[in-house]
Amino acid sequence: MGDVITIDGPAGSGKSTVAKILAKRLGYTYLDTGAMYRAVALLVKENRIDLEDRYSLKRICESIKIRFMQQGNEQKVFLGERDISEDIRTSEIDLLSSDISLIKEVREIMTALQRRIAENANLVAEGRDMGTVVFPDARIKFFLTATFETRAMRRYVERKDKGDNISIEKIKKELAKRDTQDQSRSLAPLKPAKDAIVIDTTDMDIEKVIDEMIFHIEKS
Ligand code: DC
Repeated sequence: MGDVITIDGPAGSGKSTVAKILAKRLGYTYLDTGAMYRAVALLVKENRIDLEDRYSLKRICESIKIRFMQQGNEQKVFLGERDISEDIRTSEIDLLSSDISLIKEVREIMTALQRRIAENANLVAEGRDMGTVVFPDARIKFFLTATFETRAMRRYVERKDKGDNISIEKIKKELAKRDTQDQSRSLAPLKPAKDAIVIDTTDMDIEKVIDEMIFHIEKS
């Protein structure tokens, strides 16, 4: 297995942004596991699969062809030849990916897939259960947090920048629902691993967060 650095945390904690930068600095592969759950959600939506239909759900997960491709500073997500990078970042997929991530069959297949990716690469693996379940032996584990208000505002700015005319109230409602669901599920709930380094990013800019992480990585 390659060297693995895990970054977990709730939506809007800054983990995607820092994971990408950190991976680049270290020359590691950035593994966006949220995008994997989002890709499954997109297929579920487009094929109108009932979440109770575990057979079809399993089939989708087992046959999924997710590819990540670095383009400049962006990481594009592909399903086969189709670029789904935009399609998976909608409010609907935010919630549906959280819904499907509660399902045991989905988690088992995604976990196996993530571990397989780590067999041949050094990873900065980002998600909800990287340090607790998928890579319990990772060399170093980070857990990023920020206040609810800060996380909601980050999401709001992100959506506005994309030209989405969403209100801050709607963002807050959706974020609260996803927080509750991701934290309270029985399988691989969002929580820091016992040996994780917790960083509160509320009043920190990205560079400061990266500096702190590099400090810990160099020490480990
Ligand atoms: O990180 P994200 O917002 O792109 O993730 C979308 C959803 O996928 C999130 O609400 C919960 C789920 N997820 C998960 O259960 N486990 C992971 N390792 C990553 C994401």
